[in-house]
Amino acid sequence: MKDVAGKVAFITGAASGMGLGMARAFADAGMKIMMADIDAGKLDEAAAGLKAKGADVATLVCDVTKRESVYDAADATVAHFGKVNVLCNNAGINVGGTYEELSQQDWDWVIAVNQLGVQYGISAFLPKIKANGEEGHIMTTSSMAGLVNAGPGWAPYNASKFAVVVMSEVLKSELKETPIGVSVLCPGAVATNIVEAAKHRPSDYGSSGDKPVIPGDANILLEQGLDPDVVGKLVLEGILADQFFLFTDPRMVKQVERRFDRIRQGFDWSANSHALVDAGAPGSAGS
Ligand SMILES: NC(=O)c1ccc[n+]([C@@H]2O[C@H](COP(=O)([O-])OP(=O)(O)OC[C@H]3O[C@@H](n4cnc5c(N)ncnc54)[C@H](O)[C@@H]3O)[C@@H](O)[C@H]2O)c1
Repeated sequence: MKDVAGKVAFITGAASGMGLGMARAFADAGMKIMMADIDAGKLDEAAAGLKAKGADVATLVCDVTKRESVYDAADATVAHFGKVNVLCNNAGINVGGTYEELSQQDWDWVIAVNQLGVQYGISAFLPKIKANGEEGHIMTTSSMAGLVNAGPGWAPYNASKFAVVVMSEVLKSELKETPIGVSVLCPGAVATNIVEAAKHRPSDYGSSGDKPVIPGDANILLEQGLDPDVVGKLVLEGILADQFFLFTDPRMVKQVERRFDRIRQGFDWSANSHALVDAGAPGSAGS
């Protein structure tokens, strides 16, 4: 998008952390914002702070695990502001644990918020963004865990965050001929309230019990992480530049390179495998 002033943004997980950082950056740029979150109390508090500075914001309690809730939010956003231009699929949670420790409800909740919530957002909002004929943008918050293995205990989070990276890549290819840009944000450590994620677990997904949000000892990394307001500014800059991948920690390129090295090793091994060589398979050492 070349100009965002007067444009309307819808942000999920807007009551806290990076979603609130985005709302602040967008408000400073003259955008109107529908702030959506499952936590009504924090949402009101966050919106009050922005309204006090003269921002044109409204709030909606929305649970991204519920398809209807997201579709209703899309209708309510257009009813309130007359249109919608920017979607930020940002709400995200986690429950950490190994395959043996996690319940089916743990898996279902993580996938419902982090992956299906993003699909509901895109499916509900894309027709409305297209309908106004203006420039638009769809930004999804993934994670560095959307590009590299975060280690033991991270399987559902890793799976959901990998999924939304490739969902965004496909979306970008589908919107190539339109004025709607696509970005995916892959943060490293950011100092947010994500360690409180279990509080936002809808009762139909049971309870996280004593399972941690962050497996291992990464909590300290989050506390020392980047200011979420900086991430909000990065997202705004990315939207204005129509930049696809947005990273908060450029040093983490090394982790992506190491993953690619492991994938390349797999290709080399396979090209020399007896099965492919003996069959003279195309691309193998025997072809
Ligand atoms: N903090 C980090 O270091 C980090 C790193 C990589 C990616 N992320 C991702 O960043 C995004 C934002 O998280 P954050 O770190 O700002 O955490 P946060 O907990 O501060 O904010 C997340 C917000 O999402 C809301 N939310 C939770 N479940 C919801 C639901 N079902 N429907 C609607 N809203 C819901 C919460 O109430 C909260 O306000 C998430 O997608 C997260 O996975 C965070």
